[in-house]
Amino acid sequence: MKVAVIGAAGGIGQALALLLKNRLPAGSDLALYDIAPVTPGVAVDLSHIPTPVSIKGYSGEDPTPALEGADVVLISAGVARKPGMDRSDLFNVNAGIVRSLSERIADVCPKALIGIITNPVNTTVAIAAEVLKAKGVYDKNRLFGVTTLDIIRSETFVAELKGKDPSDVRVPVIGGHSGVTILPLLSQVEGVEFTEEEVAALTPRIQDAGTEVVEAKAGGGSATLSMGQAACRFGLALVRAAQGEQDVVECAYVEGDGKYARFFAQPVRLGKNGVEEILDHGPLSAFEQNALDSMLDTLRKDIQLGEEFVK
Ligand SMILES: NC(=O)c1ccc[n+]([C@@H]2O[C@H](COP(=O)([O-])OP(=O)(O)OC[C@H]3O[C@@H](n4cnc5c(N)ncnc54)[C@H](O)[C@@H]3O)[C@@H](O)[C@H]2O)c1
Repeated sequence: MKVAVIGAAGGIGQALALLLKNRLPAGSDLALYDIAPVTPGVAVDLSHIPTPVSIKGYSGEDPTPALEGADVVLISAGVARKPGMDRSDLFNVNAGIVRSLSERIADVCPKALIGIITNPVNTTVAIAAEVLKAKGVYDKNRLFGVTTLDIIRSETFVAELKGKDPSDVRVPVIGGHSGVTILPLLSQVEGVEFTEEEVAALTPRIQDAGTEVVEAKAGGGSATLSMGQAACRFGLALVRAAQGEQDVVECAYVEGDGKYARFFAQPVRLGKNGVEEILDHGPLSAFEQNALDSMLDTLRKDIQLGEEFVK
């Protein structure tokens, strides 16, 4: 397996690269790419960690050497939020970055499984899809918006509230990856009951958890370490499934059946070729159904923005 991290010199990229160097299966190749000149040095630094994962770093204008032969590409290239910004404020810069990277992926490794971390994810995934489509290589089962941070936050906050071991808590999170489009399905957490007040307080805490970090970092960036952990969990799930492991299930923002919107975060079973099966998210509580109905306009507009950007 070759995994490429694009944006690898950034806050997320370096944390993700460190985790992958330690956790990818023996014999894997890890390729780091970033426009920042420090990137080959980041790879040299990580190469001194004694694990059976080879690592190489590339910088400059052209990501091709990092992308060549990649089975999985994780993209966190782009600018991050500062206090007072929401994810849509990043569109002007990040849309162009995701477009040009997607063009290179289409040319160099069109069969790779692609995980997009760069915000606004609701829109950047649509951009990547349209670019790949225009190049004639789009496979909807191979393109993912990485929403795993919403899942790990939900698992952490539920475990804290209910005095559980976080590793025993599973929370599906559906919709998209910004504000009201993030919908944790608290009604489906096994072995835990919530009062209406708890749901009404916990849901917005999960939706706004990114802003909690942005404000706490006071201009120094957004979530990088927890996002590195989340992207590692998702990237390893792609790798395990690609290597033939059965029953690898994660929530991700993918093009599914279009019931709610063209792209929708939902539980999926992963396989050798990416999404193997879109899984039913199960019954919703009245609170969740209302939240779902109210988010759809926003989510569809976010997607349309990406589609129109490419056209
Ligand atoms: N999906 C999520 O849940 C989630 C969570 C947190 C942050 N993010 C997003 O991830 C992105 C990265 O965040 P960060 O904190 O790591 O930012 P950062 O500024 O620390 O790092 C971004 C890196 O991207 C690089 N870069 C810029 N343009 C590039 C290009 N064309 N090719 C390759 N590399 C390029 C920069 O040199 C920099 O090293 C932001 O868009 C942020 O909003 C997503």
